[in-house]
Amino acid sequence: MFRFLLLCYLFLGTALAATAGERRVNPENCLIWGPGLKAKVVLPARYFYIQAVDSTGQKFTTSPGEKVFQVKISAPDEQFTRVGVQVLDRKDGSFIVRYRMYASYKNLKIEVKVQGQHVANSPYILKGPVYHENCNCPTEDSATWLEEMNCPQSIPQIQRDLAPFPTVDPDKIAVEIPQRFGQRQSLCHYTLKDNKIYIKTHGEHVGFRIFMDAILLSLTRKVKMPDVEFFVNLGDWPLEKKKSNANLHPIFSWCGSTDSKDIVMPTYDLTDSVLETMGRVSLDMMSVQANTGPPWENKNTTALWRGRDSRKERLELVKLSRKHPELIDAAFTNFFFFKHDESLYGPIVKHISFFDFFKHKYQINIDGTVAAYRLPYLLVGNSVVLKQDSIYYEHFYNELQPWKHYIPVKSNLSDLLEKLQWAKDHDEEAKAIAKAGQEFARDNLMGDNIFCYYFKLFQEYASLQVTEPKVRDGMEKVESQSEDDLFPCNCHRKKAKDEL
Ligand SMILES: *[C@@H]1O[C@H](CO)[C@@H](O)[C@H](O)[C@H]1NC(C)=O
Ligand SMILES: *[C@@H]1O[C@H](CO)[C@@H](O)[C@H](O)[C@H]1NC(C)=O
Repeated sequence: MFRFLLLCYLFLGTALAATAGERRVNPENCLIWGPGLKAKVVLPARYFYIQAVDSTGQKFTTSPGEKVFQVKISAPDEQFTRVGVQVLDRKDGSFIVRYRMYASYKNLKIEVKVQGQHVANSPYILKGPVYHENCNCPTEDSATWLEEMNCPQSIPQIQRDLAPFPTVDPDKIAVEIPQRFGQRQSLCHYTLKDNKIYIKTHGEHVGFRIFMDAILLSLTRKVKMPDVEFFVNLGDWPLEKKKSNANLHPIFSWCGSTDSKDIVMPTYDLTDSVLETMGRVSLDMMSVQANTGPPWENKNTTALWRGRDSRKERLELVKLSRKHPELIDAAFTNFFFFKHDESLYGPIVKHISFFDFFKHKYQINIDGTVAAYRLPYLLVGNSVVLKQDSIYYEHFYNELQPWKHYIPVKSNLSDLLEKLQWAKDHDEEAKAIAKAGQEFARDNLMGDNIFCYYFKLFQEYASLQVTEPKVRDGMEKVESQSEDDLFPCNCHRKKAKDEL
């Protein structure tokens, strides 16, 4: 029905729209902003936002229609433009436009229109060269890059993680870390030197190095990285568990814990989803925002949970669900860790699309083997998150506040039913917490935030080094998998100084 009205509206103009009670989008009043409008910001998928505003200056808070905005991206100097574009309706009156470039262009023109009329300051001309993700063209001056990317001056979690390490001695850790952890753990020893990446792996299971290689390659294509030498833990659990700060070893991990001193990085899952946005993965922070389910008021009030049996509290959750099916619908999609309990907690159920989670108002976040890496997506989905207290954390958890961004639940889930009931009895508060959590994720967990985090982390860590990082015996060079022969790029920075 709505779609039908919208079509009428588009074809027959304002008279019919007025009788149908449709509010009209006023192209001049709309707002457009975001990193994807800056030529020099290179991201795997660039993106910007549109806020729909009506003719009285009121912002839309519901969708003005999924197809209201038409976006065209072209390279004025070229015959063909190889750019994939998507307009994502966030259903709150705002849109994300994202585009992935498969070649670099001298200039790029971005047109945003409503019914043939330009919106805000459209057309936007990005004075290039505008490089695509695979173009190897690092900015020499990292300060400039940080500024273009709009990175924060300092990141509290990085300060906290590096505080126990007043200095780092590459000569020393190069020997000591493999001795301490190299036998039983899966580790990657990296050296970045002259913006080239070298690696030596320790341990048997090092397949996950692909995620680390990928983000390092992506960074070195964009910006000159500091010379730095470090160890990445590819396993789930943090490693440095010494109680005293004496002779601690710096280990980079995807998950931190309150009883360890590992240095956290954004998880491989979140990192990969950023690198592959509009590539092979479908689940990422942007696609979730276009699939947040019905409006709050129409969401199903039974909490939904699906996952693996990777922790005993998850069994507890399924037990609770059996007892209180009207409150919680929880089931396993896989048994692995507690196979002998399958008769009690099974049978396993079919996977459901992650987007379907957001048909439900209440989302439960419970640790798996370590932190559940789905939290970024749960937060951004416009449902309220009930988060289990846990010793494990990702790089952003310490910035989240209980009762502001999520509803806290005891680690043994003893108060889960009570907290769910609280949410039901305080719907306005629960809705506000959902909104605040979403806001946090929108502001802190997008692709540019992830790139800023990695760069700042390596930069600050590098500044602690007291000996020269070296390419050690047995290291090999990490080369880009996707040498882009099809769409090569001319990096002007390699020939002369940045003349822009
Ligand atoms: C809400 O979800 C539960 C559990 O998935 C389901 O059993 C129930 O039928 C749904 N309620 C409505 C009104 O759709
Ligand atoms: C759950 O943990 C709390 C402390 O957070 C404790 O007081 C309570 O006894 C525990 N409940 C069960 C059933 O273990």
